[in-house]
Amino acid sequence: MKIGILISGRGSNMVALVDAVRSGEIPESEITVVISDKPQAGGLEKARERGVQTAVIERKGRKREEHDAEIIAELKSRRVDLICLAGYMRLLSADFVQAFPDRIVNIHPSLLPSFPGLEAQRRAFEHGVKVTGCTVHYVDEFLDHGKIIMQKAVEVRDSDTLENLSARILGEEHRLYVAAVGQIVRSKQSSLCGFA
Ligand code: GRF
Repeated sequence: MKIGILISGRGSNMVALVDAVRSGEIPESEITVVISDKPQAGGLEKARERGVQTAVIERKGRKREEHDAEIIAELKSRRVDLICLAGYMRLLSADFVQAFPDRIVNIHPSLLPSFPGLEAQRRAFEHGVKVTGCTVHYVDEFLDHGKIIMQKAVEVRDSDTLENLSARILGEEHRLYVAAVGQIVRSKQSSLCGFA
């Protein structure tokens, strides 16, 4: 399974996936490329340090469809089978989603469908939820919306600050994303139809 990862920032979920492929926890796969829309994304250096190829594809004031077309071309040229969004801060165009049906997944730091969008941890915390968590889901053209693959609940403690709650969620994200991608890889490999 050739996996491409899209990032915009620090890339800690990307690192979790790279390390899990390396350890075999995600079996028979390779991280083919890490693509960032931001040249200054901290995750790019972390990917390079791990020997993973990187590409920067900036938006440069273009329409979303044009930007996405360049990313799609990069992923297709590398024959990527599965795309993992890991802190990629852009909504994908319908063209992008249709180019890789059921092959794009995302991680989000809340129990969707609650708290889609930015600063999900802060909004959940300020709302006073007692349980929050993280979600891995398939990506469609709507924000944090596609079918849910796996979730992990995180209890909010009375003593929690936003910072330590967010850190606990992030730790669970890393484990959940590895588990979900591992499950997808195993199910695709064992399915008779597999990927075309
Ligand atoms: C994570 O909280 C992820 O759920 C959200 O963006 C954040 C990215 O963090 N989509 P990182 O770049 O993986 O460290």
